[in-house]
Amino acid sequence: MRVVRSIEQLREALEYMRQGGHAPIGFVPTMGYLHEGHASLLRRAGEMSNTVVMSIFVNPLQFGPNEDYDSYPRDEERDLELAEREGVDIVFIPSVEEMYPQPTRTTVSVSELTTRLCGASRPGHFNGVTTVVNKLFNIVQPHYAFFGLKDAQQVAVLRRMVSDLNMNVEIVPCPIVREGDGLALSSRNVFLSPEERSQALVLSRSLREARQSIEEGKARTVAEVRELLTSVISSSPLAVIDYAEILTFPNLEGLENEVLLTDVDGEIIIALAVKFGRTRLIDNNVFIPKEVAAVV
Ligand code: PAF
Repeated sequence: MRVVRSIEQLREALEYMRQGGHAPIGFVPTMGYLHEGHASLLRRAGEMSNTVVMSIFVNPLQFGPNEDYDSYPRDEERDLELAEREGVDIVFIPSVEEMYPQPTRTTVSVSELTTRLCGASRPGHFNGVTTVVNKLFNIVQPHYAFFGLKDAQQVAVLRRMVSDLNMNVEIVPCPIVREGDGLALSSRNVFLSPEERSQALVLSRSLREARQSIEEGKARTVAEVRELLTSVISSSPLAVIDYAEILTFPNLEGLENEVLLTDVDGEIIIALAVKFGRTRLIDNNVFIPKEVAAVV
């Protein structure tokens, strides 16, 4: 496994791989502090590609002024061990100066899809994501890029960017990885106190119960599902709901309260963002209500 820190070195290493016939190139962009969720992306990349490139870069552009950029967890040594174990060929770890040597005057932004959910609570966040992912795609020029569905809005936004801009890369969404008790893996879980960690299980529980109620025909409208979500989450005294939303997926269009979920064509997303103390967690479930709902 090679570790490279400059764009020039990375381009040279990738040229060597391409010349040697080691395509397709699979790319897993990360912000480090890797966990089993990242490992699952790396394994999928290994199955689909001959060269696996992973980047570790905590991108300042996607953090708001009062967010956790400075305290975002970092552990390069552990990350490199995991990458080596998962068979990564090249790890790219640029500095902020390497990625942004001059003030950024060119950004990439996707409209509409970024105005809701995390886009509403974190203004500018997705412009930071689409800009850095664009830069990374230009640098790596991968055939495939792998992203976890825990950040389902990120997947939807990046897919739209790739499609709107005719970018020559396939976005491969990968399933959410959970702890045995249901908590979705996230680098930010490390910030939870034991009490917050145990109360945070309401996220996955509320998603399970919402889906089950839809399956059993007990919750049929958008308002009923939203009510169920908020009542389950509010049963945890430490939970502060940022949003609990039901939207179409992947276009992330809003649905009126009285809409019957079985009338929605295609997939929906039930998406949550909930704060426990200073830690904001997200989770979601994407499915086709028409396929799962009981016929009543
Ligand atoms: O999902 C992440 O870790 C980040 O948003 C990404 C895609 C690496 C861009 O900084």
